[in-house]
Amino acid sequence: MWVVLVLLLALSSGALSLDKLNMCMDAKHHKVNPGPEGQLYLQCAPWRDNACCTANTSTEAHEDNSYLYNFNWNHCGAMSPECKRHFIQDTCFYECSPHLGPWIQKVDQSWRKERILDVPLCKEDCHSWWEDCKNDYTCKTNWHTGWDWSSGVNKCPANSKCRKWTDVYPTPMSMCEEIWSKSYLYTTYSKTSGRCMQLWFNGTNPNKKVAEYYLNNAQQPQSFALTMLLFLGFSSLSAMMY
Ligand SMILES: *[C@@H]1O[C@H](CO)[C@@H](O)[C@H](O)[C@H]1NC(C)=O
Ligand SMILES: *[C@@H]1O[C@H](CO)[C@@H](O)[C@H](O)[C@H]1NC(C)=O
Repeated sequence: MWVVLVLLLALSSGALSLDKLNMCMDAKHHKVNPGPEGQLYLQCAPWRDNACCTANTSTEAHEDNSYLYNFNWNHCGAMSPECKRHFIQDTCFYECSPHLGPWIQKVDQSWRKERILDVPLCKEDCHSWWEDCKNDYTCKTNWHTGWDWSSGVNKCPANSKCRKWTDVYPTPMSMCEEIWSKSYLYTTYSKTSGRCMQLWFNGTNPNKKVAEYYLNNAQQPQSFALTMLLFLGFSSLSAMMY
């Protein structure tokens, strides 16, 4: 009986390490496990209590062409500071969030093993991002692929033209969904709804409850399998005890 009990404990601690409510994705700069990071820089500071990013990553997130991705925001002339702060926040959210579990997917990419897909964004965050960028310029809709990287930083590919932001992205929805190839899903939920993820917040991270909501309300095959496994485990335990 003790053997079974020990096996069950091992099984359930294995289940805890799969904790989708508090985990870091397997990508380029993420920590293995989330934890406190007292030194997170400026716009990344809201994640100090529990983060997947290091202080170094949080500082680099604020730099142009940082070593994180060598990404050049100023590919069609200097990006305005009002617009850029949204990209910094987006980087903090991507690098630091420990509550993206429900939307993490495996990918076959050279620079990361996992990505996020269809993270439901709060309407206000998507709209203010688009509003603050709408006088800027870009040459591409999807910023994940198709750049000319020959110089080491991304430049507009030869066949492209710099166009007004609103010509490339007619709506906030088109921008939020297309810019990072569907990492984000546009929603009409507001920041008070508890049904959408917030890029901008102060105080306690509101996104944990949102992740919890989606974990409990979406039928996840893995959690079903886990429940069955634990159920079978406990049944065999009680069968041995009685
Ligand atoms: C972060 O780490 C990288 C690589 O170790 C280093 O080159 C860079 O200077 C560091 N950045 C900061 C802000 O400390
Ligand atoms: C966070 O606090 C700052 C400063 O008080 C404020 O300007 C900002 O609107 C707040 N953001 C949110 C999302 O509540």
